[in-house]
Amino acid sequence: MTKTRQCWAVVPAAGVGKRMQADRPKQYLPLAGKTVIEHTLLRLLGSQAFQAVAVAISLEDPYWPELAIASHPSVITAPGGKERADSVLSALKALEGKADERDWVLVHDAARPCITADDIQHLIQTLEQDAVGGILALSSHDTLKHVEGNTITASVNRQHIWRALTPQMFRYGMLRAALQQTEGNPAITDEASALELLGWQPKIVEGRPDNIKITRPEDLALAQFYMEQQA
Ligand code: C5P
Repeated sequence: MTKTRQCWAVVPAAGVGKRMQADRPKQYLPLAGKTVIEHTLLRLLGSQAFQAVAVAISLEDPYWPELAIASHPSVITAPGGKERADSVLSALKALEGKADERDWVLVHDAARPCITADDIQHLIQTLEQDAVGGILALSSHDTLKHVEGNTITASVNRQHIWRALTPQMFRYGMLRAALQQTEGNPAITDEASALELLGWQPKIVEGRPDNIKITRPEDLALAQFYMEQQA
């Protein structure tokens, strides 16, 4: 059995969240008495799983410096990038000299405030001896259709279809190298896809369905409901 490695969290939080049609980026919208990002970070910090949390924030973001959590001793701020992958890479660079090449990094969307310590522990315990790492995911219950325009061109066999969630857990050195090698590739919409493109085969670990991503306005009410249920 190899030595258990330290874990670090990376939170990309430099998106604008256009689909929310709000006056501010979705991570700063109010939810159950706090902003979305405060819930997310408090849950990561409260899980006791991480040495530190590196958060990627847009350089033009006026909201972040106003939050008390921005000066938490275990929170490191890094400049955000053009795409999500650029933001993640920037946060990884901010961990240089702190994280060891073989330490684990768990990348978690700022917009997923309902993450539980249980899910984090489950992911880490399942994958900590794995050579590559993997992601929380959910199987698809709906029948899936391939569509062109508004016409169905095929039905997809859902037996092999899973929805990728976060956290996504990979070795620090391997993830940084994969994101550097795939920089600018529009197909890279999560960390796993960068590793897949280089031939690695990340694992999936079944996550909880309440780990939703705030994307549309109605998701805030759903997140509040899940938080009440979790409490
Ligand atoms: O837009 P979407 O919900 O897919 O974004 C997922 C996460 O990536 C969000 O937490 C968002 O703030 C972050 N992101 C980022 N930098 C970008 C784009 C998105 O950190 N350039």
